[in-house]
Amino acid sequence: MKEENIILKATRLRKTFHSPKKTTVLSGVDLQVKRGESVAITGRSGQGKSTLLYILGTLEDPCSGTIEIDGKTVLTQNRSEIRNQHLAFIFQNFHLLEDYTALENVLMPAKIARRNTSKGSEAFRRGCELLETVGLSERLHYHTKLLSGGEKQRVAIARALCNDPDILFADEPSGNLDKQSAKQIHQLLIDFSKRSNKSVVIVTHDPELAGLCDTRYELSNGSLGIV
Ligand SMILES: Nc1ncnc2c1ncn2[C@@H]1O[C@H](COP(=O)(O)OP(=O)(O)OP(=O)(O)O)[C@@H](O)[C@H]1O
Ligand SMILES: [Mg+2]
Repeated sequence: MKEENIILKATRLRKTFHSPKKTTVLSGVDLQVKRGESVAITGRSGQGKSTLLYILGTLEDPCSGTIEIDGKTVLTQNRSEIRNQHLAFIFQNFHLLEDYTALENVLMPAKIARRNTSKGSEAFRRGCELLETVGLSERLHYHTKLLSGGEKQRVAIARALCNDPDILFADEPSGNLDKQSAKQIHQLLIDFSKRSNKSVVIVTHDPELAGLCDTRYELSNGSLGIV
């Protein structure tokens, strides 16, 4: 595989939790993700899928092993820069700011990056466009606490795409949704990857979503195997 096609390279990741009970969840995991690739990580509950996703996304440290994103080794000093530049996340419970509107939530990453988000700005226009892409142009100014689960997750996707990430990490993105809303979320994730040649790494129990991804792995007893 040509190195420049690889956006994420994880080598010999190990992770053991020592309290309250010694639990080894990763015992030497290697993973390479290509640009534009959609990857599903499946496995039984408690096998360490979320832990692996957070480590790949630089939110949590492994006990040992390395992670390279876009050819740069993730180190303590550069991790927030790498995260802001390349990565985005969505979670099962959406993690929206419920007292803010859909548009305000989507513009939050741009605000944090100190970009101009006022009406008429480039970021504002992009925020509206992203909410339109996920089918929420009628809900721009709704407080997100008023939205349905499926709508909330679509706001979270629009927010994740606001800074144009190279990799979108998703932990059980449709775990709390009905079948119809889940289908919509799956399609948005796969479309994002295909249309813009970006990568998605999705932890899921849903065989339908896993089946839509280019590559499917199963995490079991600390090892990652291709399915
Ligand atoms: N911070 C922590 N401290 C101690 N143990 C932890 C910690 N985080 C996770 N664990 C343990 O590590 C194991 C893997 O947890 P993880 O949440 O990664 O599993 P999972 O595969 O995502 O499960 P699920 O499918 O239920 O979400 C579990 O046994 C869990 O109790
Ligand atoms: Mg989990």
